[in-house]
Amino acid sequence: MAAASLLTARPGAALSGTVTAPGDKSVSHRALILGGMAEGVTEIEGLLEGEDILATARAVAAFGARVARLGPGQWIVTGQGGFRQPDSVIDCGNAGTGVRLLIGAAAGYPVTVTFDGDASLRKRPMKRITGPLTGMGARFEWQDDPDRLPLRLTGGKLKGLTFTQAVASAQVKSALLLAGLNASGDTDITEPERSRDHTERMLRAFGAAVRVREEGQGWRMRLAGGQRLSGTPVSVPGDPSSAAFPLAAGLIVPGSAVTVENVMLNPLRTGLFDTWREMGADLEVTNRRESGGETVGDITARYSSLTGVVVPEARAASMIDEYPILAATAAFASGRTVMRGIGEMRVKESDRIALMARGLMACGVTVEEEPEGLIVTGGPVQGGATIETAHDHRIAMSHLVLGLAAARPVTVRDAEMIATSFPGFVALMQGLGADIG
Ligand code: S3P
Repeated sequence: MAAASLLTARPGAALSGTVTAPGDKSVSHRALILGGMAEGVTEIEGLLEGEDILATARAVAAFGARVARLGPGQWIVTGQGGFRQPDSVIDCGNAGTGVRLLIGAAAGYPVTVTFDGDASLRKRPMKRITGPLTGMGARFEWQDDPDRLPLRLTGGKLKGLTFTQAVASAQVKSALLLAGLNASGDTDITEPERSRDHTERMLRAFGAAVRVREEGQGWRMRLAGGQRLSGTPVSVPGDPSSAAFPLAAGLIVPGSAVTVENVMLNPLRTGLFDTWREMGADLEVTNRRESGGETVGDITARYSSLTGVVVPEARAASMIDEYPILAATAAFASGRTVMRGIGEMRVKESDRIALMARGLMACGVTVEEEPEGLIVTGGPVQGGATIETAHDHRIAMSHLVLGLAAARPVTVRDAEMIATSFPGFVALMQGLGADIG
C-alpha cells in the first residue's frame, strides 16, 4: 500500500464466510519481550506480524536476544537471561504498548538507552510510566517535554514500589511488573478496575510468581524482585480487538453472517461482545476451547436489529480499544448509545473521542461529544465522506466498516496505518464479500 493511501468502502451485498482472527497484539508484544528477558528458547506460534509487533521484535533483538522468523506467525526468541546494552536508538514506531512495556523491562537492567517513535507516539503521555519507574530508581532524560518521547533511560539497581493507579492501565501495570522482576523487594500495584491480565498470565508461564487478589475497591498485584524467567512455548490466540471489525460488519450489513475463528475470550477483553449482546446483537460462540493458557472460540455475527444502550463505565478497561467500532455500529442502532468514563480514548493512537465524533458527523450521524464521553444516536447513515484518521488504524477500520452499510461510500485517509495491527484486513474483508479497495 502506498504511503498516505486512501481506501474506500462501498455499500453492497450481504457478507458471508469464515475467517481467522490475526494474532492478539497485546499477547504478541509480551511474548517477544518476555522471551527476550528470559534465559533460553521461546517458540511463538500465531504471532501477529503487524508493524507494531515487528518494531518490538527489532527492539528485543537490539537488546541482545536472537530473534528469528521460521514461517508465518512462527518465531523463535533466544534470550540471554536479560537485556544487554543496545548500540542504537530503540524506535517503537506507532506502538504505545511496545514502548511502554520495553521501557519497563529495560529499566531493570544496567543499560542506557534512548526510546523513540513515530509522530503519533511522540504525542502520547509517558509520565504514567516514567513517574513510577523513577520512584523505583530508574533515571530519565528528555529531549523537550518530560512527558513525551524521545527519552533516554538509565536502568538498573531498582527497588520495588507500592503504587496505586488512578485509572486502570495494563500498560502501566505491565511496565512496573517487568521492572519489578529485577528490583530488590516487592512491587505492589493496585488498580481500580481489573485491566487485561496477559502479563500476569505470561509471567507465570515463564516461571515467575505473581500474586493477584481482589481488595477493597480494586485489584492488587504483588511480585517479588529477583525472579528469573525461562523461555517457554507461547501460542498467541486471535485478537478480539481485530475480530471486532469483521464481526461488526456482519451485524450491520443486511443479510450477513460472518464467522471469525480462534478469538480470545479472556473476560478482561470481551466487554464489546457483552455490550453488543445488550444491544440485541445475534452473536454466537461455538467451539469454545483452551489454547495457550486462554479460552478461545469461534464467533458468528448475524445481521441484527440493534438498540442503543448505556455502556457501564466500569466496563471501559475491558473494551477500551473497541469504542470506535462500537460507535460505528451504534450509528445503525435505534436510539442513543451512551459511552462515558472513556477519557483514556483521548490519549490513544489519536484522540479517538474527537476523531470518531468528527467522522460520524461527516457521515450524517448525530453525535454528542463530552470531555470523557461520546453519545451516538442511531439513524440513517449517509456516508459519502472522506475521513481524517490522524494515522490511527482503528479509526480507519471503524469508518470502513461503517461505509459497508451506509447509503454512500466512505473513504479513509492514511489507510496504510491499518497494517500496524491488522495487516490482512482488506483482503480478509474482501474475502467476506466486502467492497473495499
Ligand atoms: C494494552 C493496553 C491498553 C490498550 C492497548 C493495549 C496492553 O492500553 O489500549 O491497545 O497490551 O497492555 P492502556 O493500558 O494504556 O489502557
